[in-house]
Amino acid sequence: MSEAPRPPNLEVAGLRSGYHGVTVLKGLDFTVGDEIFAVLGANGAGKTTLLATLARLIPVMAGSIRFQGRDVTQLRPYTTAGLGMGYVPQEKGVFADLTVLENLTVGGMIGRRPHDERIAEVFELFPGLRDLQGQKAGTLSGGESRMVACGRALMQDPNVLLLDEPTAGLSPLYVDMFFDKIRELHETRGVAIVLAEQNATKALQVAHRVMVLSLGEAYAVVDAADLTTQQLKEGYRI
Ligand SMILES: Nc1ncnc2c1ncn2[C@@H]1O[C@H](COP(=O)(O)OP(=O)(O)OP(=O)(O)O)[C@@H](O)[C@H]1O
Ligand SMILES: [Mg+2]
Repeated sequence: MSEAPRPPNLEVAGLRSGYHGVTVLKGLDFTVGDEIFAVLGANGAGKTTLLATLARLIPVMAGSIRFQGRDVTQLRPYTTAGLGMGYVPQEKGVFADLTVLENLTVGGMIGRRPHDERIAEVFELFPGLRDLQGQKAGTLSGGESRMVACGRALMQDPNVLLLDEPTAGLSPLYVDMFFDKIRELHETRGVAIVLAEQNATKALQVAHRVMVLSLGEAYAVVDAADLTTQQLKEGYRI
């Protein structure tokens, strides 16, 4: 007998959210499977609002979010994190006064696998962090800090990782390294990734599907290979 198909990692329907009664996301519908799903769009398009809403940090005004078949629309962030939704915010992804190791340890408070095993995996993915373990996160460079933020989310053993512009402001070497790591995470650990990005060229090199957000609306949701320059330009309103 064949098994029932697994539900998608994320099913978003009619999603509206925003701030203090101002609607930013104006009714989004999309699904995320076992894939790298890029969310592209100009400054202010609503990428951060979308990821923070998915992570349940911003109240939903209307619509629903299902995570692996379960309705999480009204759940709290720590609950969705416990279910396997990891979130790396665009800014402030680390505790500045804690060391690198302490930051990772805090992330590992969710999840059941042995701590040491998970820390070893983070160091395997980001070898540069091993030598920085005892350093206060607030004194790290931008690139190092992004690695710690990412490592902290990975300590929760997520099935889905929401990454908000992980390479913004980083030097080209770091940008390339980070995109390689995103691909590696997906291919070798099976983590589905929602990647908010300004850098369309780079994102399209790793993404399977892409959504172009334009003023809070999904201008296009297509296979990355099928996205036309015209769609991209119109979505970015340039
Ligand atoms: N805390 C907030 N309170 C009120 N409005 C906000 C808040 N955060 C964002 N906004 C507004 O919501 C809209 C979408 O912002 P958002 O940060 O989601 O865009 P973005 O696509 O992530 O942009 P960027 O590429 O610059 O990070 C913008 O018009 C912004 O001014
Ligand atoms: Mg943003």
